[in-house]
Amino acid sequence: MTLTRRMFALGTASTLLTAEAAAQVAARALIPFGSAVMISDFRSDAALRDQLARLCDVIVPMNELKWQSLRPNAESFSFKDADEIIQFARRNRKAIHGHTLLWGDFLPDWARQINSAREAERVLVTHIETVAAKYAGVVSSWDVVNEVIAHEPTADKPFRDSVWFRQLGPRLVDLAFQTAARVDPSARLVLNDYDFENPDERTAERRRQALRLVRHLQDRKIPVHEVGLQAHLYGEKPLDARGITAFCRELGRLGVGVRVTELDVIDWKMPGPAAQRDKLIGELTTAFLAAVIEGQRPQAIITWGLSDRSSWIHDVFKRQDGLRARPLPLDEAYRPKPMMAAIEAARRLP
Ligand code: G3I
Repeated sequence: MTLTRRMFALGTASTLLTAEAAAQVAARALIPFGSAVMISDFRSDAALRDQLARLCDVIVPMNELKWQSLRPNAESFSFKDADEIIQFARRNRKAIHGHTLLWGDFLPDWARQINSAREAERVLVTHIETVAAKYAGVVSSWDVVNEVIAHEPTADKPFRDSVWFRQLGPRLVDLAFQTAARVDPSARLVLNDYDFENPDERTAERRRQALRLVRHLQDRKIPVHEVGLQAHLYGEKPLDARGITAFCRELGRLGVGVRVTELDVIDWKMPGPAAQRDKLIGELTTAFLAAVIEGQRPQAIITWGLSDRSSWIHDVFKRQDGLRARPLPLDEAYRPKPMMAAIEAARRLP
């Protein structure tokens, strides 16, 4: 409809514009949803591939871009498994989030044995140059560093111990972000970490350290675009909704986005009956995502797997009653659970 002068004069235009604005808000893209997937499940399970294609905007190779997968030895790279997932994601027009360019854990033995700063820098820079260059324009966001904040940080010991930290000290973070930014200036660069959600001092300190690291990078003009909240939520622990919101808001003030990168619910201490557990998990997901969105709209909501068929939680947080864990949005038959509904509703929040 064209707006005539008469409409303006009659005041109709403002009503129309308001309606238009409302329509725009309604049409505003949902917060992208995604999932991580590991190669063995991806290959063996056609139903999983269908669900990934149907539900996800973003796909994350769960383990295939880690050093352990890419670097069987110091001389070469092995991209086969990562490429299989990435090709599927591209064919289905999904965004690809890369996990991860630097992690102190799950390294091949040869990397753990690096014993000089010079060697650590050479190996790290070559790795990031090679991997980020190979996927430039394909991987749209990278967990540049994963879990560099100490589990229980203090002012004198803010960093987690790793071969990288032992050899390079705090500048491992600068080096990783600088290299990633140089090689792929178009990728969103993410500082990814866990335990930002609980109402305790350790968690509050972890959030402060994340903010401190972001400011440190910004002071040095090193790009950092987002903080990744892994969000492996504990079903038996209360959430620090205010703390989460304040954290996300403060990052927003610094011009830094947030991304929910590994959402799932650790249900080992939750009630047994499935319906009751699923309901509580849905409520926890709602409360968590509302707290994030209140602080700022996340770039994506990514779960660490799609269906309860496959999750690290089955191995790491076994229930005493022997019941299977139900940590993810779809059940073992790929039926959506309340957690999926909670995510779908959150994606629509303004
Ligand atoms: O591929 C081998 C297989 O050949 C072998 O038969 C089997 C025997 O256990 O192991 C398989 O590899 C395992 C792989 O998962 C696939 O199942 C590795 O041992 C195991 O260490 C690996 O664990 C992954 C872990 O990271 C370490 O890389 C989990 O799947 C993955 O969910 C977990 O993800 C981490 C994030 O990267 C960082 N944040 C925490 C999150 C959960 O721990």
